[in-house]
Amino acid sequence: MSDNTIENLMSEQRTFDPSREMEQKILDQANLTAEKYEQACRMATDSPEEFWADRARDLLHWTRDFRTTLESDPEKHEYKWFSGGRLNASYNCLDRHLENGRRNKAALIWQGEPEEEVRVFTYHMLHRKVCRFANVLKKIGVSKGDRVAIYLPMVPELVISMLACARIGAVHSVIFAGFSAVSLQNRIIDCDAKILIAADGVLRGGKKIPLKRNVDEALFECPSVEQVIMVKRTGDEIDFIEGRDTWWHEEISGPDIEDYCKPESMRSADPLFILHTSGSTGKAKGVVHSTGGYMTATAHTTQWVFDLRDDDVHWCTADIGWITGHSYTVYGPLALGATTLLFEGVPTYPRPDRYWEIINRYGVNIFYTTPTALRALRREGTQWTEKYDLSTLRILGSVGEPINPEVWIWFHEHVGKGKLPLLDTWWQTETGSILISPLPYVGKLKPGSTGKPLPGISAKIVNSDGSDAEANEGGHLLITEPWPGMLTDIHNDRARYNRTYFERFPGSYETGDGARVDEDGDYWIMGRLDDVINVSGHRLGTTEIESALIAHPDVTEAAVVGIPHEIKGQTVYAYVTLRSGLDEDDEMRTVLREWVSQKIGPIAVPETIQFSEGLPKTRSGKIMRRILRRIAVGENDLGDTTTLSDASVIADLIEGQKELFE
Ligand code: WTA
Repeated sequence: MSDNTIENLMSEQRTFDPSREMEQKILDQANLTAEKYEQACRMATDSPEEFWADRARDLLHWTRDFRTTLESDPEKHEYKWFSGGRLNASYNCLDRHLENGRRNKAALIWQGEPEEEVRVFTYHMLHRKVCRFANVLKKIGVSKGDRVAIYLPMVPELVISMLACARIGAVHSVIFAGFSAVSLQNRIIDCDAKILIAADGVLRGGKKIPLKRNVDEALFECPSVEQVIMVKRTGDEIDFIEGRDTWWHEEISGPDIEDYCKPESMRSADPLFILHTSGSTGKAKGVVHSTGGYMTATAHTTQWVFDLRDDDVHWCTADIGWITGHSYTVYGPLALGATTLLFEGVPTYPRPDRYWEIINRYGVNIFYTTPTALRALRREGTQWTEKYDLSTLRILGSVGEPINPEVWIWFHEHVGKGKLPLLDTWWQTETGSILISPLPYVGKLKPGSTGKPLPGISAKIVNSDGSDAEANEGGHLLITEPWPGMLTDIHNDRARYNRTYFERFPGSYETGDGARVDEDGDYWIMGRLDDVINVSGHRLGTTEIESALIAHPDVTEAAVVGIPHEIKGQTVYAYVTLRSGLDEDDEMRTVLREWVSQKIGPIAVPETIQFSEGLPKTRSGKIMRRILRRIAVGENDLGDTTTLSDASVIADLIEGQKELFE
């Protein structure tokens, strides 16, 4: 399709109505039919607690029913869901499916990066592995409430580790395997982990990337970690530290390890996991999720948004190191007893048909991916999508960043064959589950819009003074009522939890995103309002990258902004002031890039580094990033510069930017 046509489509504000395209049978069998949706909306508005209580009881197995649906203490921003209730997340994802006819059904299909490496676990097999590994954890002294750090690539052991922790009530903290030793260390220290589960390395794009060195470096200063359990993935030789490191395959096959482990009875509010995410300060926040609330929210949204059905193969391509993988690769689909697919590789290796080949090979029904992947695949041309029969697909989803309307249309047209519901789902690490999204067979889809808040979710857009924004007026996106999947805390930093989410707009949860609502009530997400940028769907704090740069001995000052990028959505643009007398050249740029990669990880490396003598600051010394953002993209209008302490730096900065892009 030519761009010209896309422009036409967009100027016509084309909408899509999947309920007109889909077979009647699919509509009739939907988990949420149009009629049921109306009822749900009414019930969620009239009696929200009853609505959520019904969902929690319908979707989960509680070993003790809850007394109260929601216990709120708004003063303390404390919201406890399903108090008095007891459950176990691993029981809900595994044991109950052994008795309801799903015992021999594939729970997890793992496709390794090498095409021939495939592992399939039935519910019975996964249950047994999880029980055995839970017994390993118990044997080495992990008990309820202990934290376990997990630093693994996309291998089945990652899922098994998470569920084994959940089984014994230990709190898992998964750390994305693309993070550096320093980031790993910070996260382990922050959650005070007792055990680390890691791998020798990662297979990525045909290469082996070592991980063990990062582990050893990180653990220099992590006294809490007593033992490291190593998964063998690449088979490369590693330094094995006797007395501290053990092998996964030896531990799990130990003769004293039993096949069954009794699930711990957890209170609904007990933490299920901690997951770190970037915020607007240099330190990542350890977002805490509860057991009952989180499990209800993920099962609920997997069922209604993705219309997940019993014989579906559900594929969420996100790495489990991020929240999307937690909720929609692991907990949501397994709680519902579906088949979840885990893919170790990247979409373009060895050929840019990897996703389509996998969809075809396993008969994937639900395909949930990111705009960054789609932008990269769209560039490769349509011969790759055309090569495969993708007719098993029923629902498409997108998450993590705004999806450009033209990419949306490409996805819908070439993967969804112009028929399938394509759901642009909005949510965050903190929200635990999808909050704003179209539903597959209810209402119209608009490319670029995330649709409406789901039943039971109340949102609004406000101006900076807290007053309601008008239709189509951009403002702060707030969630105005509590919901079960919401974070319960920032680990070890209650003050930051209060400050970040609840203090600026009393009575609401502040998302940090800007958005507008159109006349139909559909939401359009505009991007972050805080100092967070989104590179390929990965959340990065600009302050985090600045701190890393400033920590380099040759750097005296640094400021980082995000600028638009064709494939990645945004990239990192850094302004750096060096100590005087040093060469401002590409060699120095390489040194600084390597440095950031070591301090945070490859995803945070600045695409552009502009050396500058000074930075625009207010009289109180605050860097004016607004101006830097405009300079970085070569904009002439810099807005109001009257509050600058020294306007003379501006001309130099503009000059410097021009030179870079000459
Ligand atoms: C952004 C990922 C536009 C947003 C689940 C949010 C989106 C941040 C969308 C959370 C979307 C997420 N359209 N932007 N559909 N979904 N975002 O915590 O800025 O990794 O605040 O959670 O991603 O990123 P996180």
